[in-house]
Amino acid sequence: MQLSPLQSRLAASLIASCLLLVVYLFFFFPQFATATQLDDHVNDGRLENDAALGAVNVEDPGYEPEFALFDRSIIGRAPPGVTGLANNVPLSADIQPGDTWNYAFEISTIEDAEASDRSRLRELRSEPNGSLAAPHDEDGLKEGSSEPVRPRQQSRTLWISANTCQQPSRISPDQTTGDPPQLTLFVSRSSENTSPGPDQDDVELIPFQEGAVMFNTSFTEDVFFSIHAPEVSDERFDTSLPYNFEIAASIDQSYHTAANESDSPLIWVDSDARGALLTTRSLTSRPEQVVENPPYVLYAQNKANPRINGLRSSYCGLKREAQIRGLENGSSGDITTGLKQGGDGNLTRQEFYIGGLNASSEYFSILVRDPDRTALEPQRNVPGGGGVVYQPISMETKPLGACRVIFNLTLCDETQYAVPANWDLFPEMTDLAAFYDEYTQTMYSNFEKSLQQIQCEAQPENRYSLVRNCADCEKAYKDWLCSVAIPRCEDFSEPDRPHLQARNINEPFPNGTMVDEKIRKEHANETAWTSSRNPLIDREIRPGPYKEVLPCDDVCYQLVQSCPAVLGFACPLPGMIGFNSTYGRRSRGGGGVTCNYPGSAHYPPAAGVRLPVRRSLVLGVVCAVLAIAI
Ligand SMILES: *[C@@H]1O[C@H](CO)[C@@H](O)[C@H](O)[C@H]1NC(C)=O
Ligand SMILES: *[C@@H]1O[C@H](CO)[C@@H](O)[C@H](O)[C@H]1NC(C)=O
Ligand SMILES: *[C@@H]1O[C@H](CO)[C@@H](O)[C@H](O)[C@H]1NC(C)=O
Ligand SMILES: *[C@@H]1O[C@H](CO)[C@@H](O)[C@H](O)[C@H]1NC(C)=O
Ligand SMILES: *[C@@H]1O[C@H](CO)[C@@H](O)[C@H](O)[C@H]1NC(C)=O
Ligand SMILES: *[C@@H]1O[C@H](CO)[C@@H](O)[C@H](O)[C@H]1NC(C)=O
Ligand SMILES: *[C@@H]1O[C@H](CO)[C@@H](O)[C@H](O)[C@H]1NC(C)=O
Ligand SMILES: *[C@@H]1O[C@H](CO)[C@@H](O)[C@H](O)[C@H]1NC(C)=O
Ligand SMILES: *[C@@H]1O[C@H](CO)[C@@H](O)[C@H](O)[C@H]1NC(C)=O
Ligand SMILES: *[C@@H]1O[C@H](CO)[C@@H](O)[C@H](O)[C@H]1NC(C)=O
Repeated sequence: MQLSPLQSRLAASLIASCLLLVVYLFFFFPQFATATQLDDHVNDGRLENDAALGAVNVEDPGYEPEFALFDRSIIGRAPPGVTGLANNVPLSADIQPGDTWNYAFEISTIEDAEASDRSRLRELRSEPNGSLAAPHDEDGLKEGSSEPVRPRQQSRTLWISANTCQQPSRISPDQTTGDPPQLTLFVSRSSENTSPGPDQDDVELIPFQEGAVMFNTSFTEDVFFSIHAPEVSDERFDTSLPYNFEIAASIDQSYHTAANESDSPLIWVDSDARGALLTTRSLTSRPEQVVENPPYVLYAQNKANPRINGLRSSYCGLKREAQIRGLENGSSGDITTGLKQGGDGNLTRQEFYIGGLNASSEYFSILVRDPDRTALEPQRNVPGGGGVVYQPISMETKPLGACRVIFNLTLCDETQYAVPANWDLFPEMTDLAAFYDEYTQTMYSNFEKSLQQIQCEAQPENRYSLVRNCADCEKAYKDWLCSVAIPRCEDFSEPDRPHLQARNINEPFPNGTMVDEKIRKEHANETAWTSSRNPLIDREIRPGPYKEVLPCDDVCYQLVQSCPAVLGFACPLPGMIGFNSTYGRRSRGGGGVTCNYPGSAHYPPAAGVRLPVRRSLVLGVVCAVLAIAI
């Protein structure tokens, strides 16, 4: 199509506007979730290179509280029987059922600290959201004045938080006996009452929930509080181990945090009979941001095992009691973790592989953000040093069958899910992954040869499309190839759903039994049912019967739209013969895996659905149509 100069200018500006719109929607609209989350990370100042975003740099030596000496001015002068707590310094203690431990946070400790180090005043003023508040003159911080004015009457916020590290264990393993009772935090409402406890009027009672308590109050004078352990039935619980807890007070932010948001940054990707793969959401918002150390730790627990009931929001409780956890000697136990950069925005995520799980079981996995992990010098006496414990995520393992999780592929770097496998012929995961890797690489290099014969990188007027180039085509082909050539596998016992296609129904199961005869008769003549999409899988891997999570149709449309027509790609449309056995469709509400695409995972409903692909695709089409119409 030849365009007059005026027409092409109009076309160019139209295309530019369209692209801008696409770029705008791509970067701003769908990122809300990620952006708020990043704020979350930034708030604790755990990410390096985030200075521009207002992060507090924990590595700044000036930030490290010098509590090593614990002199009186820091600890305070608490009355007898009351333990003084210093800002952001946790203490832990055993407590017998029925006992009460008294604590105090004395205002003199922070004033002395501020007087001895005026530069720190600013940092102590840091807002709960982590940004550093600008120094206010009215706060008594006068440049050059040698004697800082003490803001005696100024009201501030004190955060008190605690975690239960240990609780009496149940005698009977029976789930129905109920969980051990929780500890209670009492906070005195008056400075007269230095030992708040049960059955008093002028106290506030805050029960622990799942082993965690968080409380904040504004204060102008010393604050007295206590931890009380309930009486525990000897018949139901073994009280030879007392309760143990960790408590901290802070004027900066809650030292321990039990996150209440239902959407934990943790996402269950997939699992097989022996392990599960999980990932966090993006840790960064730009590809150049570097995350030095993995910020998170993961714990997992069989749902049938009640051991961590009552401790699920306690970091120290999980550390001691979780069934699947890193070991005290530093060995990571059954959990492998690492940082990975890639995917849609080329952002960094932390990934976990948990091994040693039982087949057909349900598990909780609990993510904890541990500030220790990100600091070069592990230090716990910092604001928020007690970590953030997120809500448990449910996941389940598959029966011991045809499916096995693979990851760490070269070409299909986003492919990490259960694939048709054979535990006997390919006992090592890496060999299985290598098989799929080799196959996709062969296919891809053939495709590249074809693409080279097309005028891809030519001048725009000779190119096959004004809006797509070879790089787009390569990316679209890679996404399509990886979703189609490496089937996402579900066990044959999964109930039938529109996006699941049964494969290999005429082959025996690994234990020698056959698929129900009725099914075999009904679909005897349908290739989709009797073989894998890729015959090489049946020949080399011999997985037996399984169900394939069909690739998403938009992965195919993207391919057709991004690549030159000469290459002859085409996709079946919904309603056409063969569509139902070849492609699935993304569910509107999100939730679960309803079709396979690079990066597919068990996103929680409506939270992490990756719509940007579709949005920009639709706009791309509209723009292309507009450009041609001119
Ligand atoms: C932090 O809070 C302060 C004051 O409450 C506010 O001015 C600032 O914008 C907040 N920063 C962020 C990153 O939310
Ligand atoms: C203090 O605690 C209340 C609930 O008791 C909560 O709504 C509020 O957000 C907390 N304030 C801060 C600054 O964390
Ligand atoms: C946490 O969220 C749940 C439900 O969303 C709500 O019932 C509960 O009160 C919240 N807890 C706190 C401490 O905000
Ligand atoms: C992702 O970002 C890193 C660091 O900025 C860069 O080295 C790498 O080439 C990028 N990868 C892709 C596929 O863009
Ligand atoms: C840690 O302890 C476990 C079992 O207690 C042992 O198998 C492992 O080798 C130990 N690792 C190190 C690094 O000492
Ligand atoms: C696996 O099952 C056995 C028997 O039910 C149980 O003792 C064990 O704790 C389970 N292991 C895991 C990791 O769930
Ligand atoms: C993935 O591969 C890299 C190097 O190829 C290796 O360092 C890493 O440990 C592997 N990840 C896992 C979980 O095996
Ligand atoms: C054999 O395996 C299939 C699929 O895993 C299962 O449905 C069937 O019950 C098993 N049969 C026997 C006898 O174990
Ligand atoms: C399958 O094909 C055979 C031979 O063409 C035919 O006899 C049989 O009826 C077909 N079965 C079904 C279920 O269509
Ligand atoms: C394909 O599946 C859809 C939804 O499950 C169904 O309505 C439709 O009838 C099926 N089409 C064919 C040709 O089987």
